[in-house]
Amino acid sequence: MPSLHWTGKDAAVVAIRDVPYRPLVAVPSLSYGEPETENLLIQGDNLDALKGLLPVYAGRVKCVFIDPPYNTRSAFEHYDDNREHSIWLSMMYPRLELLRELLSEDGSIWVTIDDNEGHYLKVMMDEVFGRGNFVTGLCWEKVYTLKNTARLFSEQHDHILIYSKQFDKVTINHLPRSEKQNSAFKNPDNDHRGPWLDSAVHARNFYSKGSYSVTGPTGKEFSPPQGRYWTVSKENFEQMDRDRMIWWGRDGNNVPRKKAFLSEVKQSVVPGTIWGYQDSGENAQAKNEIKALVDGISEVFITVKPERLLRRILVIATNPGDLVLDSFLGSGTTAAVAHKMGRRWIGIEMGDHAETHCAARLRKVIDGEQGGISKEVNWQGGGGFRFCRLGEPVFDGRGSIRPGVGFADLARWVWYRETRQPLAEVPTTPLLGVHQGTAYYLLYNGILGDRRPAGGNVLTAPLLQVLAPHDGPRVVFGEACRLHESRLAALNLRFRQLPYQANA
Ligand SMILES: C[S@@+](CC[C@H](N)C(=O)[O-])C[C@H]1O[C@@H](n2cnc3c(N)ncnc32)[C@H](O)[C@@H]1O
Repeated sequence: MPSLHWTGKDAAVVAIRDVPYRPLVAVPSLSYGEPETENLLIQGDNLDALKGLLPVYAGRVKCVFIDPPYNTRSAFEHYDDNREHSIWLSMMYPRLELLRELLSEDGSIWVTIDDNEGHYLKVMMDEVFGRGNFVTGLCWEKVYTLKNTARLFSEQHDHILIYSKQFDKVTINHLPRSEKQNSAFKNPDNDHRGPWLDSAVHARNFYSKGSYSVTGPTGKEFSPPQGRYWTVSKENFEQMDRDRMIWWGRDGNNVPRKKAFLSEVKQSVVPGTIWGYQDSGENAQAKNEIKALVDGISEVFITVKPERLLRRILVIATNPGDLVLDSFLGSGTTAAVAHKMGRRWIGIEMGDHAETHCAARLRKVIDGEQGGISKEVNWQGGGGFRFCRLGEPVFDGRGSIRPGVGFADLARWVWYRETRQPLAEVPTTPLLGVHQGTAYYLLYNGILGDRRPAGGNVLTAPLLQVLAPHDGPRVVFGEACRLHESRLAALNLRFRQLPYQANA
């Protein structure tokens, strides 16, 4: 398959392996609202944070939305095109790989981008997600006015690339019919069936029973226009006319058309690929929304997205209760909208504005602020979020487990590394779980109740008796093993030594 190459790609492709596993550490003083919430606002570099999320959230995220830096030349004083371009591509590659791991089988990822990198991003995403998993590209009208000072063209749109984890499983909801779409239905003849919309009863396709003439209420005769055919037979036409399904115009003198009643049309519409500002918001609206919410907001958020854009995306890509992830959170738009729409969310932002702006904005959301989409979704407030930062890596530079690492963090990592599945609940015994018939056990940190440093971490014959039984292969992780190879083989048991450097 053709693929994209750039300086530094080889390192970018293996970058995930070298990212340390750093568990999340909650900061209660910056968290807000209901303490039992699953919503996470994480401050830190998203490469580390996404890797830290894997052991808990792999395969559980229904929708990823990201609005990464666009790599616009204006961001650099002396722009070295090739260098900045390669750095940007190397930045994106491992993050996209991690995001893919986090997506659920029926999930989708949506990425906003402009012409600086959009077409390179498409090729890169083909490689990471698979060309067959491309869903579509949207054109979002981010600015509706023309800038006459533009040298050649006044840029008005962003691209939004959508990929699925698995094309045949992705769920894409239709949009509810808008008031504007419904307003096209009228009722000029006071039909008791309610408002209707008329359309032609003739078409270009040949229809053997479609060449006849009909007589209107005023006695005027009508045949299909030159080269066209009625789409129904004469008998059906006459029946429709008796049923008041044919519209001859207000004075009964027009070419007949057929009625379709609003009450009978589907109440949802398939989403299109051109998203106008009227339905999806635009840049200026987004800036006003955030300015009204956060005091002293600066130009750092010139790329803030409108709440209506995120609402439309989440209506299509998620259902209430689903998990939404944005790893370039900016001012917190995705989290704010997901929260108001009853979705669970994880937001990652490395800047100090994670605390000063995102947290401040989300506190207001929980308190019931009425900006953005609040009125449209009847937002009343409630819920909460946990603010987290990244903890120390579980393994040090030599691959040893750092002092102070708890059973839960190591258990999650060992389980994920072995099974590529998240650990739903951290157990209180060494048995982490059974995956594809194999049971995995972790002897660490006095899980068996012995708090001495090595207590219970060594696999011995007596310890074997207290492990939960399993009828099938077993893998035990521990500090050392006192059992002979032949005994292990007879027990269908493999021993894996800790510490080890995870190389997932
Ligand atoms: C274009 S803005 C996102 C704006 C956002 N959609 C909104 O509506 O406010 C990109 C954000 O990504 C953040 N960012 C860039 N690189 C990052 C990284 N490696 N880890 C976490 N955040 C990062 C930047 O600090 C910036 O706030």
